[in-house]
Amino acid sequence: MTDFYAVIGNPIEHSKSPVIHHAFAQSTHQDIQYERVLAPLDGFAEAVHGLIAHGFKGANVTVPFKLEAFAMANRLTSRAQDAGAVNTLIFDAEGIIGDNTDGVGLVRDITHNIGVSFAGKRVLLIGAGGASEGVLHPILAEHPALLIITNRTMDKALNMVKRIEANDEMLFVSIQAYAFDDLHGQHFDIVINATSAGLSDSHLPLPAGIFAPNALAYDMMYGRITPFMGLALQQGAVVFGGLGMLIEQAAEAFTVWRGIRPSTAPVIAMFIQQAKA
Ligand code: ATR
Repeated sequence: MTDFYAVIGNPIEHSKSPVIHHAFAQSTHQDIQYERVLAPLDGFAEAVHGLIAHGFKGANVTVPFKLEAFAMANRLTSRAQDAGAVNTLIFDAEGIIGDNTDGVGLVRDITHNIGVSFAGKRVLLIGAGGASEGVLHPILAEHPALLIITNRTMDKALNMVKRIEANDEMLFVSIQAYAFDDLHGQHFDIVINATSAGLSDSHLPLPAGIFAPNALAYDMMYGRITPFMGLALQQGAVVFGGLGMLIEQAAEAFTVWRGIRPSTAPVIAMFIQQAKA
């Protein structure tokens, strides 16, 4: 019996998720089909109910529906609650479970694939939108020495810090909000770009010298060299795009659905190979 899954978004035609999940299914001998579903901007709930009616077992959710998916789920995992957004839905007899695998995907890519630990490090998180919120708790759970959030709109960064400070479980981390201009003289071991600035090839006004020697610069966008990555390369950082995160968040969703963890290295290698061809 084939089990059916989908990724719902708008736009969706360029999603790599079907290729990734079919590769996982092949390597783990799981009988699944995984489809792209284009939902109208006002038709997310209808699309989800349509999948449930057709017997689908789950779905991934991408832009711009992660908040709607959060609102729609009957039950939320703690990591979805922390993120305030849902990228993975599980359909069962009692309804819709909402999960979030984005943060775990980022952390896994950095710690397992790239081999850089957050523990005791100075970390800069750029951006205070949904992508940044989604990775905040999983990064803090890795016990960096310091986490600074910087954002063009300062209030949003301050609000993220306030929410963490109100959460007793997170008091072990030093977390602060800085304006871009205030970063002069600071340096970081790990710099993560969670803004969407790269989509429009916009430059972030980051001061020179923010990268400590051998710093990791990670852009959560994939498939292009963003101005942030260009700047980081010029300044001698080790630079990665978000391909590994994309594949790791998918692997985590696959594990939740199927109860078996696929190897991600061959799939990451396949995409790197395709990009070179
Ligand atoms: P996402 O879900 O991708 O995070 P979002 O919630 O709209 O999308 O957030 C986009 C993030 O990218 C925000 O941090 C935004 O900064 P503002 O909060 O000031 O809007 C940031 N961003 C987008 N374009 C940017 C640019 N050209 N320069 C700096 N920051 C930018």
